[in-house]
Amino acid sequence: MRYWRVAQPPPKARTVDELKSSAASCKGCDLWQNATQTVFGDGDEHARMMLVGEQPGDQEDLQGKPFVGPAGRLLERGLDEAGIDRRRVYLTNAVKHFRWTRRGKRRLHEKPNVGQVRACRPWLEAEIEVVRPGIIVLLGATAAQSVMGPSFRVSKQHGEVLESPFGTPVVATVHPSSILRATDDESREAAMSSFIADLKVAAKHA
Ligand code: URA
Repeated sequence: MRYWRVAQPPPKARTVDELKSSAASCKGCDLWQNATQTVFGDGDEHARMMLVGEQPGDQEDLQGKPFVGPAGRLLERGLDEAGIDRRRVYLTNAVKHFRWTRRGKRRLHEKPNVGQVRACRPWLEAEIEVVRPGIIVLLGATAAQSVMGPSFRVSKQHGEVLESPFGTPVVATVHPSSILRATDDESREAAMSSFIADLKVAAKHA
């Protein structure tokens, strides 16, 4: 077994910037080795709504900000249609390094494993403590299970306001990438409508 030097969130961090600069050198799991940089959360530090995705993608890894690629554009559309201003939310991920595998010239997303999600959880907890949102939106299974535990099923419990172990209510919904992967227009539109409905539930409680 290999052990990594874990950069822990500073216990008295008061700002996202303080957390972000500590997380820049995190080696709490092996993902830092193949990633360009740590992609920390970004957005309104005083937001009433925090949205948590899975992990940065290719574009996020290169640009150093969450949700700036195709999934981010779809998320922005969903927020807009739910009447939520993207500039007023805080966006982050359950895992803060890009996990990928090479296929030819492309870097293909790989789902983070349980150990990688667990290693990154202290950063998410620290972000929640600093931002103190009124509601957390969990985008997809990785984010939902990181916060709510491994038996949580987004398909069964999406769109409900639930108590979380952090004491902050959460609403789970699908990950925007799953909408992008829909194979036909009809299922894409249905998934998008359900996504927007879940976001509206969260907005009501923010
Ligand atoms: N998918 C995520 O879960 N997060 C990002 O930041 C980008 C894509």
